[in-house]
Amino acid sequence: MTTYLEAAAAPLKNTGQIKLYSKEDFEGMRRACQLTARCLDEVARMIEPGLPTKEIDDFVLQFGLDNNAVPATLNYRGYQYSSCISLNHVVCHGFPSEKPLRSGDILNVDITFIVDGWFGDSSRMYIAGEPRRAAERLVDLTHDCLMAGIEAAQPGNRLGAIGAAIQELAEANRCSVVRDFCGHGVGRLFHDAPNVLHYGRADEGPELKPGMIFTIEPMINLGKHHVKVLKDGWTAVTRDRSLSAQFEHSIGITEEGCEIFTLSPAGLHKPPYLT
Ligand code: MF3
Ligand code: CO
Ligand code: CO
Repeated sequence: MTTYLEAAAAPLKNTGQIKLYSKEDFEGMRRACQLTARCLDEVARMIEPGLPTKEIDDFVLQFGLDNNAVPATLNYRGYQYSSCISLNHVVCHGFPSEKPLRSGDILNVDITFIVDGWFGDSSRMYIAGEPRRAAERLVDLTHDCLMAGIEAAQPGNRLGAIGAAIQELAEANRCSVVRDFCGHGVGRLFHDAPNVLHYGRADEGPELKPGMIFTIEPMINLGKHHVKVLKDGWTAVTRDRSLSAQFEHSIGITEEGCEIFTLSPAGLHKPPYLT
């Protein structure tokens, strides 16, 4: 049985219980998440064929330092970068690299800034140069999947309603949902309870209550859902080498529905960004 507790009274660790945050806590999340969203807006301006993705990572670190924020991934469990940059068949946790982007590459940039102790976690897809049709379609579908999950994130629904909505849309479009990684509670911790599955049944999981804060971050594959992690211990790729896409928002459950903390202030929700 899941239990809930006031975040203010909770220890600063994952106890498996679901933390319920206050109005003031939501304000803290808004600040951290809007910084992350602004950074992802800036990244949209940088993307072009020829750009080594390490330059995106360098920009993210500098943007954080300039804004009194620390990238949460830097030295997180041995991870060495300020962002995760996952190209083409890389599902998540890709390393930034010196290899230049090529026209037609699709990439996810995942950033988490810590601002005053609050974690703002979000990612978007970008397309370098001229997209291929299948890639463009996958990126669009994946954003639709994220938004379908967010629409199901309402008080009174169960957590499983989110995954069910995502899975239904992905599979109706002959794509698959990655099982091996999920969304997560977020707030004053990077990864907290509950696990937010991107597949499953609407009548399963704990009830969604106002004050809950978590991410939704579906990874959708053009081929099968199976994933393997490379020998570097981080880079997750599709087993069948098919293309994979992901978008992520940090959200909070309210009395009326939910608030998307990481919404783009510039309206750069999905490609083409036309900046
Ligand atoms: N930002 C990722 C997430 O959405 C986590 C990255 S952990 C890292 O949960 F170590 F790979 F950076
Ligand atoms: Co996340
Ligand atoms: Co993330």
